[in-house]
Amino acid sequence: MLWTVFLLLNGLLILILLCSTRRRQKNEPPLDKGLIPWLGHAFEFKKDAAKFLARMKDKHGDIFTVRLAGRYLTVLLDPNSFDSVLNDPALRHNRIQLLQSIFSLSLPSIEPATEKKWMEQHFQGVSLSRLSRAMNTHLKNLLLSDHKGCDSLEWKTDGLFNFCYSLLFRAGYLTLFEKEDNAAAVYKEFRTFDSLVTKLARCSLKQEERKTANLSREKLWELLSPARLNGGLESNSWQQKYVRFLQEEGVDAEMQKRALLLQLWTTQCNAGPAAFWLLGFLLTCDEAMDAVKSEIKGLNLQDVSPQHPHINPLEALETPVLDGVLSETLRLTAAVLISREVVQDKILCMANGQKYHLRQGDKVCLFPFLSPQMDPEIHEDPQIFKYNRFLNKDTKKDDFYKNNKKLKYFTMPWGAGRNMCAGKEFAIATIKQFVVLVLTHFDLKIDEAQGAFKLPPVNPSRYGFGMLQPDGDVQVKYKLKRRQHEA
Ligand code: HEM
Repeated sequence: MLWTVFLLLNGLLILILLCSTRRRQKNEPPLDKGLIPWLGHAFEFKKDAAKFLARMKDKHGDIFTVRLAGRYLTVLLDPNSFDSVLNDPALRHNRIQLLQSIFSLSLPSIEPATEKKWMEQHFQGVSLSRLSRAMNTHLKNLLLSDHKGCDSLEWKTDGLFNFCYSLLFRAGYLTLFEKEDNAAAVYKEFRTFDSLVTKLARCSLKQEERKTANLSREKLWELLSPARLNGGLESNSWQQKYVRFLQEEGVDAEMQKRALLLQLWTTQCNAGPAAFWLLGFLLTCDEAMDAVKSEIKGLNLQDVSPQHPHINPLEALETPVLDGVLSETLRLTAAVLISREVVQDKILCMANGQKYHLRQGDKVCLFPFLSPQMDPEIHEDPQIFKYNRFLNKDTKKDDFYKNNKKLKYFTMPWGAGRNMCAGKEFAIATIKQFVVLVLTHFDLKIDEAQGAFKLPPVNPSRYGFGMLQPDGDVQVKYKLKRRQHEA
């Protein structure tokens, strides 16, 4: 009897495997299912998506389909063909599953286009100027107040990542959420949550980690709950306006609380890491540091002084060198995965005229980090930080080519189309303000005690989640400049 059941189960398993075995059809992209039944390449992808996709690109070229835990993902790596994915309404931008697994959040009543419009309105025009000015004030206050109570002329030592993330997070939180008494507590809890975000998204938490993630998420919901944040109806903070938007869209109180954590993460998880890489690259390259400092010296820095906190100094000033350094930093360290659901069978037309059939139910994605950003055909020595890669003599360089064709997408840190960052202008203004403030008010140098200065490697689990983060930190020393101290 037992044998019969065993044989029947085995037969059933073999039948399921045979039926679920997919073969490449005519006109479909190369198919790579991996050796493990059903799982396919899931482990390799989770471990280091950039390394895995680079291996697949070498094997199959600019388009291929891979199997990941029972699902099929077509990856397109030819930037000249990106518009055929970005502009196609038959490909659905679907983040329902991510919202659920990371934030335990469901917002069925909100149309993505309505939310996108709201975000754009509240990060552009007059709102942008107001937010940038507030951000500048908070950055300045935090930078200078963190030095109160100690001898300002003494060198302080800190991890560069912690220094940048903590300052930009707290200033960003104060600007958008306007809650002064818990910024440090929210930052501390946020770092715990953020360190588990990629595992939450991939449902790969160990039991202990799951407990930590759930606890941290609950603490953050509590810290961010609209009742605990400033202001009733009269308050006009960004956060309060967002809560009113959710209420108008029929979102209940529990989901409003959870949506605030989504927005905290979306608005705060990228700028700090970006500033870290930027200052880190400058510290590894004297020529770049000198060029940026010399550009800053030439600006009318009167406005940057603490006596004029209400003026946002960088709005009106040209900073091509700093802009170029930021673009180069983001080329090397921004790694979003742009993904769409194929809701009905579709023909994808490549720029070279080749046509591929995509199957309904599959996913199609772009990974601009591999191409265009790290593509040696587009950017010479792509692994190397070249501070003037995006700089003509004194202007922005934006002509890059692949297969002799000028590229529309030669770097894509901010996403594109429906995946475009709504806070791009605010983020650029913020990072530039931070760098200018740090280099103007502080002496910053490598901590020689740790030997030769080298930036830490990238944490490979973060590929696909926006800005990359380092695996570890690097110690730096900083102190207020004498002039500032005496002022
Ligand atoms: C270096 C800094 C930043 C980078 C590289 C970045 C990049 C991105 C990318 C790639 C997306 C699209 C994600 C996707 O759809 O899969 C995105 C979305 C978004 N970003 Fe940023 N971001 C940065 C900073 C910021 C800041 C400072 C804010 C606001 C304070 C912000 C606000 C947003 C919002 C609201 C969205 C969602 C847009 C929507 O779909 O409605 N970002 N960001």
